[in-house]
Amino acid sequence: GAGLQARAAVKGLAFGAALSTRQMAEPDLLAAFQAECGLLVAEYEMKWSQLEPTAGNRDYRRAELLMAFARRHRMAVRGHTLVWHESEPRWLSDLSARGTAAAMARHVDETVLRWRGQVATWDVVNEAVAPEHGRGDFLRRTWLLNRMGPDYIPQAFHIARAADPAARLAYNDFGIEHATLWSRRRRLGVLGLLRALRQAGAPVQVLGVQAHLQAGQPFEAGEWRAFLAEVVALGLTVEVTELDVNCAALPAAAGPRDAAAADLVRRFLDATLAEPAVRSVVTWGLTDRHSWIRRGLLPEHRRRDTAQPRPLPFDDGMRRKPM
Ligand code: XIL
Repeated sequence: GAGLQARAAVKGLAFGAALSTRQMAEPDLLAAFQAECGLLVAEYEMKWSQLEPTAGNRDYRRAELLMAFARRHRMAVRGHTLVWHESEPRWLSDLSARGTAAAMARHVDETVLRWRGQVATWDVVNEAVAPEHGRGDFLRRTWLLNRMGPDYIPQAFHIARAADPAARLAYNDFGIEHATLWSRRRRLGVLGLLRALRQAGAPVQVLGVQAHLQAGQPFEAGEWRAFLAEVVALGLTVEVTELDVNCAALPAAAGPRDAAAADLVRRFLDATLAEPAVRSVVTWGLTDRHSWIRRGLLPEHRRRDTAQPRPLPFDDGMRRKPM
């Protein structure tokens, strides 16, 4: 049948997935990616530590392989991500406050200029909210925050806007989808940040909802839609940017595991896509074969899941799953 992008387009949506240069060596994966996706996001090749491994030496080669692939197959591109605590280059720690601000400004400016007109949406700032860091502003104590104060966030948006007036600019975050105390606090933090940015005139236009869903945690459509309505009332659109399912709490057998994951995704997307301001759905990879969850990049995945994680819409053999 028609690919996911074709099905999404019927509803005025875009569908895509994260891809990495390593995955480009696998013909079956690339064929499926072309058949299914209208939107591509680099899994890590556009992150700051990758683009600028040593200060001032920028290397665009791997990112350009993905850009060329997207161009060849007429896919739109999401830019991910200009500022993220996990990809702050190590050499930043040698810099003064002023040097840090200058490095961030140069990085955002040069990266966005490089692909001006070719990136539909930039994730300008990623995961800046961390209520557990215990300050009133709910902001994560990142290197940039410690050096520059909370102003690093609006600054990044202004610089990105100047470098590409046509790109849509997003704030992207995780852990806001579930009906748990933890998610509720994170939603409050995200709303507070978005409101402050809008009030200060910072050009944020999109909330990126990562949607790394946690099977076994409650999801409530009404509560989720109320949050999306508040985001939309601020004048923002919404993109689902990194959808997958952490299966650690699910049965180990593949059949029941896939059915339960699909059920959670269906409930999440039914609620999310009922909001007309939602424009696109991107999964964090296309196939279980390469999921970051399977690679055990988070400690809880290593600890809790004894069976194979099956977080994505295609299985190891590139066959469609119930999701
Ligand atoms: C992950 C990638 O999947 C890994 O390959 C990389 O090593 C670390 O980052 N939230 C994000 C993504 O915004 O950038 C992360 O991607 C997953 C969590």
